[in-house]
Amino acid sequence: MNVADPALLYPQQLAVLQARADEALARSGRDHLLIPSGRRHYQVFDDRDYPFAVNPHFKHWLPLTTVTDSWLVHTPGQRPKVIYLQPFDYWHVVPEAPGGWWVEHVEVHVIRTPEEALALLPPVARCAILGEANSALGEYVPDNPAAALDYLHYQRSYKTPYEVALMRVAQRRAAHAHRAAERAFRAGASEFDIHMAYCAAARQDATEVPYQNIVALDTHGAVLHYTELDREPPATPLSFLIDAGASHCGYAADITRTYAMDRGSEFQAMVDAVDAAQQAMCAGVRAGVDYRQLHVDAHLSLMGILADFGVLKVSPEAALATGVSAAFFPHGLGHPIGLQVHDVAGFAASDRGGTIPRPEGHPYLRMTRVLEPGMVVTIEPGLYFIDMLLDEVKKNGHAGSVDWARVDAFRPYGGIRIEDDVLCTGDAPENLTRPAFGE
Ligand code: GLY
Ligand code: MN
Ligand code: MN
Repeated sequence: MNVADPALLYPQQLAVLQARADEALARSGRDHLLIPSGRRHYQVFDDRDYPFAVNPHFKHWLPLTTVTDSWLVHTPGQRPKVIYLQPFDYWHVVPEAPGGWWVEHVEVHVIRTPEEALALLPPVARCAILGEANSALGEYVPDNPAAALDYLHYQRSYKTPYEVALMRVAQRRAAHAHRAAERAFRAGASEFDIHMAYCAAARQDATEVPYQNIVALDTHGAVLHYTELDREPPATPLSFLIDAGASHCGYAADITRTYAMDRGSEFQAMVDAVDAAQQAMCAGVRAGVDYRQLHVDAHLSLMGILADFGVLKVSPEAALATGVSAAFFPHGLGHPIGLQVHDVAGFAASDRGGTIPRPEGHPYLRMTRVLEPGMVVTIEPGLYFIDMLLDEVKKNGHAGSVDWARVDAFRPYGGIRIEDDVLCTGDAPENLTRPAFGE
């Protein structure tokens, strides 16, 4: 028996979601929880649709990411009802008949038009409906009661064994593709061709991966969300930063690696130092640890590396206090991940609402909670040579903190980021990404 088999884990997943839904209904004073899968969006004045993004609440219950105009209905004490649209349509491939590990655990109703759902939904006055406005069907207009959403989003931080099993598959898919991308880089491919090699190896196209691939050669690595994909490679590529994931049943992997073409270069040595520091940070993903502290500690650790390489001329503590460290590490250490790459509730103070603020001076941190077993977070420290931010260092009177000749030496390489996805447990953390690269 494979203990990580989603089919075996699904009944527990369903039981957890039913219990959470019961509580969400109690808190919002409703009797039924309705989750529309979502409807297609069209480009303005056009009949062209955008890639369909299913309602994350829907794919929490069901491993379905492509069915539109369908509904999940939860009523306490009853089997979940799935209203599944399988239209008569000879223009498109329609969703297959319901199949898979989930079917036997729910009550399935196949409908042929979206409106047929109306006869199957419970009385609207007693429903909490979670979704976006364009999922409305007649009187069934998503109302997203805050008490229900606060609770469900908070609880979504605690991944079940079923969810972790699906996330592991996404990790393996992404890691395999990262290997292919590195080979393409070393063969001298352009960003566009590396991206294509990645997608081919992941067996996922640009609309299926969980976020736009960042495939950055040389100085492009200094653009945090670089998504341009140059069609021609540089004459002599120096470095490669790739931030790319994969999806499985709606769950995301989010992985970054950085490589120097010359394995003996000083830049590769700096990459190796960041990699070692990143693994130490991953080891800090332990129950009871405040993620904000991990983030601040990461600043000190990264500034220690810059000092070792002669870029920083002051202590890590001084660089942090003056804001110089934020010029080299200008984003957050990471974020929750799961059904969304940037998963919900990273700032949630409780399951009844409230926000845990970011530490002052760290406006881009996406996770401020204390870690607990079941949470999955990314750990993604980086060091970049970004002229716009380094100019600020000079303007703010801190030019003396930096050896600018050393900055000049590293600038052509752009930047470094190393990112893994890490599961917090009751004991040692489990890095979901590293073993996937080992396979
Ligand atoms: N790939 C986006 C991020 O790392 O947050
Ligand atoms: Mn990330
Ligand atoms: Mn990423």
